[in-house]
Amino acid sequence: MNPEGRARVEAWLEYFNDLGISDFCLDRAASTVEASSEPAEPIPAAPQPLPRPVRMAPATVDPNQPHVASVLPVIKSASLFVANERIEGDTLERIREDIGENCRRCKLCEQRNKIVFGAGHAKAELVFVGEGPGHDEDIQGLPFVGRAGKLLTQMIEAMGLRRDVVYIANVVKCRPPQNRAPEPDEIETCSPFLYRQLAVIRPKAVVCLGAIAFQSLTGTKPSMSRIRGQWLEFRGIPLMATYHPAYLLRNPNAKGDVWEDLKKVMAHLGLKLPAKR
Ligand code: URA
Repeated sequence: MNPEGRARVEAWLEYFNDLGISDFCLDRAASTVEASSEPAEPIPAAPQPLPRPVRMAPATVDPNQPHVASVLPVIKSASLFVANERIEGDTLERIREDIGENCRRCKLCEQRNKIVFGAGHAKAELVFVGEGPGHDEDIQGLPFVGRAGKLLTQMIEAMGLRRDVVYIANVVKCRPPQNRAPEPDEIETCSPFLYRQLAVIRPKAVVCLGAIAFQSLTGTKPSMSRIRGQWLEFRGIPLMATYHPAYLLRNPNAKGDVWEDLKKVMAHLGLKLPAKR
């Protein structure tokens, strides 16, 4: 194996060891390799197109099912931006065109390099929503490609999925200077594009990475430790918040909490859960 591949596998194993799920993940890697008949690499290097993004859940989500813990009131629509309902015939391409090549709707345009629209499968059953692009994302024009992004990739792969079968987007599409949190006027200006993305994709679940994503979609501001892992709803789409991967880089002990949250998402999507050990 080449040094780059080895480093990637080692990072993978470290992450899965942290979560105590290395057996499960090695198991998955083996079955992925078998299915794609590629040389023995734990992660498929060139993802193959799939007929459907992820395995189907057997039935549509019923918030009264045991795995949907409705401890907070279900929010039918965001309280901040109620005007943005589904646009007839909308597509991701059209939303990208509407943003434009040189969007100047808010002050984030002043220092941004590239607009980071979002990436992934247009019919993904699972969408991850982050806060806003960082340095690497701003350079590449792609979401979650820096250190936090690598961790998010590991989280996705721990679920038995790949980045190209989920969709990844941010609340704001341009990098806030010095990686500060996006400000309310920036969120207000940009999040209608996220709403449109979600309305077009219509995933079976949205995972909010961190408080800003959660607040932007629900209009509520509870503490992450209280809200994480709970199912709510955004315009009919089941939504859950978990810690942001950047938080996990600073607080690796919280990886276990995130894994618990992701297992709930897996159950909801009908994905195979790791065997209890
Ligand atoms: N953090 C985010 O919230 N989004 C990105 O795209 C990268 C880092």
